[in-house]
Amino acid sequence: MPARLSLEVDLNMSNAYKIAILAGDAIGPEIMAQAVRVFDIIARHRDVAFELIPAPFGAAAYFEYGKAFPDQTKVICDEADAILKGPVGLSHEESKKIPVDEQPERGAILPLRARYNTFANFRPIYLSKDMAHFSPLKPEVIKDGIDILLIRELVGGLYFGEKERGVNESGKRFVKEVLEYDEDQIRQVLKVGFEEAQKRTKVLHNIHKSNVLMSSVFWNEILEEVRQDYPEIEVKHLLVDAAATALCLNPGQFDVMVTENMFGDILSDQGGGILGSLGLMPSACIGPEKAYYEPSHGSAPDIAGKNIANPYSMIGSVAMMLEMSFNLKAESDAVWEAMRSVFEAGYSTSDLTSAESGSTSTITSRIVSTSEFGDLVMDKLEALLK
Ligand code: IPM
Ligand code: MN
Repeated sequence: MPARLSLEVDLNMSNAYKIAILAGDAIGPEIMAQAVRVFDIIARHRDVAFELIPAPFGAAAYFEYGKAFPDQTKVICDEADAILKGPVGLSHEESKKIPVDEQPERGAILPLRARYNTFANFRPIYLSKDMAHFSPLKPEVIKDGIDILLIRELVGGLYFGEKERGVNESGKRFVKEVLEYDEDQIRQVLKVGFEEAQKRTKVLHNIHKSNVLMSSVFWNEILEEVRQDYPEIEVKHLLVDAAATALCLNPGQFDVMVTENMFGDILSDQGGGILGSLGLMPSACIGPEKAYYEPSHGSAPDIAGKNIANPYSMIGSVAMMLEMSFNLKAESDAVWEAMRSVFEAGYSTSDLTSAESGSTSTITSRIVSTSEFGDLVMDKLEALLK
């Protein structure tokens, strides 16, 4: 039916995107309020439109609707072209008011990942030279900044394996959680690692624990198969424990790293550590049909409502969406540049200055609030897009 075909073409060319906005808990709404301003600015300066559709998600959703990932949110996410998600979760004490299965990690985040099979989690561990003073590492270790892309498998392994608790034959309570991957799951994320290495310096660090875990032996076997298609990529193997040390001693040796779910969870937080703060860690979670974008950090209930959290990781998640979901690379670059220039001009937020105090730098920043930081970034972005 030709008429229908031409309609499909029109739809693809319409440049109008629907984005589900899941603001989340604690600092989530504050940093999200800054991040969404980016869409408005880009729409005013470019031939593109964004429809933002807020939806409840996380602990706040549980208290209002009895579910951390309510059905109406699922519908909104299903229909969206991409999903922007803020951090979720409450303090340990507050979490106890929510049944274990509905606590936001188990009740919302993992089901979101499973629903859209977002198997490839891109976690840039990036610090420009101008921001090097945020890092607790010495300047001679940091050199020109840090620029690592960690690719973490996100929908397999221990996170999603079978779980069992019980009492064994000798009357002892026991627990069992299964680390399971099939070959396709490993292959698809390794391919992403090779593809990214191809675009960058053509070196891929494969992080595993094959001296102990059968799952890593299998992972490495699949890697040998996948690498046949990427003869120009140099693969460097590193055990995950050694990788943790190497990230601190010489982060410059890494470019693209690829690893399984649990290892990637831990190493990416360490990545935040060498940057100086998890507040500097945006991320993208990519599936075959849908992607969602989120900061790698938690909801920081201790600083919620104070207008002091830095929105970098949330705004950076928008930048990643612009490039990866909508192919708006120049606009994405402008967002990064706007944020860098605000830091370069000496501005920071108080949550990040605690990071600076751990560094060896003598630079002191001019402290602004979350919303003032957003104002500065948006002013610069406007100027860049004109
Ligand atoms: C992350 C978080 C999540 C994870 C939690 C909140 C389920 O720590 O995105 O790294 O462990 O994957
Ligand atoms: Mn984590």
